[in-house]
Amino acid sequence: MTFKILDSKQKAEAFFEEGTPKLIRAGDNEICLVRKGNTFFAFDNACPHMGAKLHQGNTNHLNEIVCPLHTYRFNMKTGEEVNKRCKSMKTYYVHTNEGGLFIDC
Ligand code: FES
Repeated sequence: MTFKILDSKQKAEAFFEEGTPKLIRAGDNEICLVRKGNTFFAFDNACPHMGAKLHQGNTNHLNEIVCPLHTYRFNMKTGEEVNKRCKSMKTYYVHTNEGGLFIDC
């Protein structure tokens, strides 16, 4: 199912500050969304290790999100934990066009 998050790409770029994780809701899903330049990353907000809220974490220059609880690092594109210490996070396809910012769940 596709959810519309914002109704223009310009609004999306203004709303999602570069590299700052934000919590959004799409249907019943709690999703963490991050903008890096023109690229958007989306993944389950619950860390696959022990469920910490990933929107309270930080991102780095390697396009990883760092969990705030035990600092495991996850590739935001593939969802993999970089040292394979737990299962991968679930990622979602995000796309933009002249109609807005959309996420497929
Ligand atoms: S809960 Fe995220 S690394 Fe442990």
